[in-house]
Amino acid sequence: MIAKEILAPHAMMPLIMDGLKSTGHLHCLWEMAEPESFIRENASKIGAIATGGHIKVNGAYMSQFPNLRIVANFGVGYDTVDAKWAGQHDIIVTNTPDVLTEEVADTALGLLIMTMRELPQSERFLRAGNWVNKGPYPLTHNTLRGKTVGILALGRIGKAIAHRCEAFGLKVVYHGRNKQNDVSYPYYPTLVGMAKDVDILLSVAPGGESTFHTINAEVLAALGSKGVLINIGRGSVVDEKALIKALNDKVIFSAGLDVFEDEPRVPAELIAMENVVLLPHVGSASHHTRNLMGQLVVDNILAYLGGKAPLTPVVETPFGKW
Ligand code: 8YV
Repeated sequence: MIAKEILAPHAMMPLIMDGLKSTGHLHCLWEMAEPESFIRENASKIGAIATGGHIKVNGAYMSQFPNLRIVANFGVGYDTVDAKWAGQHDIIVTNTPDVLTEEVADTALGLLIMTMRELPQSERFLRAGNWVNKGPYPLTHNTLRGKTVGILALGRIGKAIAHRCEAFGLKVVYHGRNKQNDVSYPYYPTLVGMAKDVDILLSVAPGGESTFHTINAEVLAALGSKGVLINIGRGSVVDEKALIKALNDKVIFSAGLDVFEDEPRVPAELIAMENVVLLPHVGSASHHTRNLMGQLVVDNILAYLGGKAPLTPVVETPFGKW
């Protein structure tokens, strides 16, 4: 007998809440007056957790529930869930891959062009009345023409971005843990080596301990004074203090960021800078794509309740049996 109760520690999109409520087994922790006593009294009945916010679903959290078998994460990135611990304790973690790949790649290219061609700055210029009062917006120093982009982490989203970059006439190179045999883009075994050779460093790297502050002062120095950093992966991959210093000291030219170290808080220093483009983590944020992601969360939990294999388990937790 599997434990049938589902726990939602925090509010999620209506499609997920409605889909899970329809099972008659959903418990919304954030709506409870005394969540701790609910957990104490019902811990052994909880078989599934739906999550995807900034709550850390670590070993200490999961170990409260002796019959927990699935943690369904909303998002392809699952750095807030300790999947390694889950794997060691017979708990499947699922994420939401594929359905967001093209959307995030679109956003990445948008952010890249916004940053290179200063589109937000020139829009602000127009809205402030400067076009009519002061004349044309200054020509941009940057262009995509003749540039090389170095992609950090050439996974599914990285490849969709690479594909688009090629269509825009950019030369594509990449760095990651391994050289990949199914792509012809030049591979760099070191990030610093790649940063030295490219005009744009574009990170799609996931969060977590293994990538923490991978883009540090040394990498930014290697990118150089004409270099541009784009981050669409996770904020924790970039040492934000080092980035702010590099932008202030003109160690790099500019940056376009969709993700930050302490979301939704964005450092005031970045907000004050004119040579950065800042987006509020909108990589996958359309109704179309978020609905597909949400449905995957629901479907993974429904599969569990039906005794079937989950649709999208992560690599650390391959499906064996419930
Ligand atoms: C979402 C993301 O913004 O999938 C991811 O890893 O970063 C985004 O698509 C996030 O999951 C929402 O919580």
